[in-house]
Amino acid sequence: MSFILAIDGTSGSGKTTTARKVAESLGWFYLDTGATYRAVAYEVLKKGKDPENVSEVIQVLKDLELAMKNTKRGQRTYVNGEDVTNYLRTDEIDKSVTPISKTKAVREWLVGFQREIARNRNIVVEGRDIGTVVFPYANLKIFMDADLSVRAKRRKKQKRNTKHVEQVKKDLKLRDYHDSKRKESPLRRAPDALLLDTTSLSIKEQVDWVIRRIKQLNESTIPI
Ligand code: DC
Repeated sequence: MSFILAIDGTSGSGKTTTARKVAESLGWFYLDTGATYRAVAYEVLKKGKDPENVSEVIQVLKDLELAMKNTKRGQRTYVNGEDVTNYLRTDEIDKSVTPISKTKAVREWLVGFQREIARNRNIVVEGRDIGTVVFPYANLKIFMDADLSVRAKRRKKQKRNTKHVEQVKKDLKLRDYHDSKRKESPLRRAPDALLLDTTSLSIKEQVDWVIRRIKQLNESTIPI
């Protein structure tokens, strides 16, 4: 028996750290689906294609081989055999991943890929549409959010960002807007997702909260 934990939420809400730590602590597989969208953006840019041009993006998908591995150094992302993990968090990719994640063909391709990875294993999957589209039948769904100012401060610290915090705040607001207003799989809380507001929580408190929910849900059948 396998367990799918779906974590969705806004940028900077603490999804990635929480999901990774929960998976580590339970010995489950961890999948950051944002990295899969970033990997497509990476390849589109590498091939000199335009992220806004749907047919050029689809062309890139045709030759794309993607792999996600869990290692001691965290999740690693491979594009056509190359470990691209360290190149996925640049400002250039931040920008081009928005039009790419709006492209229907990309979403379909990646949703199939993400479902394949989750087959027959205990997994924590994190993203924007995990509880709504990718795994509507997940065993547990959590939606994470926090005040915009708190999220901006976290993002600035995390990226050792040289931008002013007000600019980081503006960028986040724009990302939230694009993520939640797009036509294809917009970011939204599934009706059966539990809300976790991390505005005044530490990472440890967030992780403990999630693990408590998993234990409560299925104490007798989940081997924790
Ligand atoms: O979580 P992140 O910042 O690495 O996500 C990168 C981009 O991919 C972001 O613009 C939202 C998008 N995304 C998505 O549309 N669906 C997902 N399941 C995960 C990320």
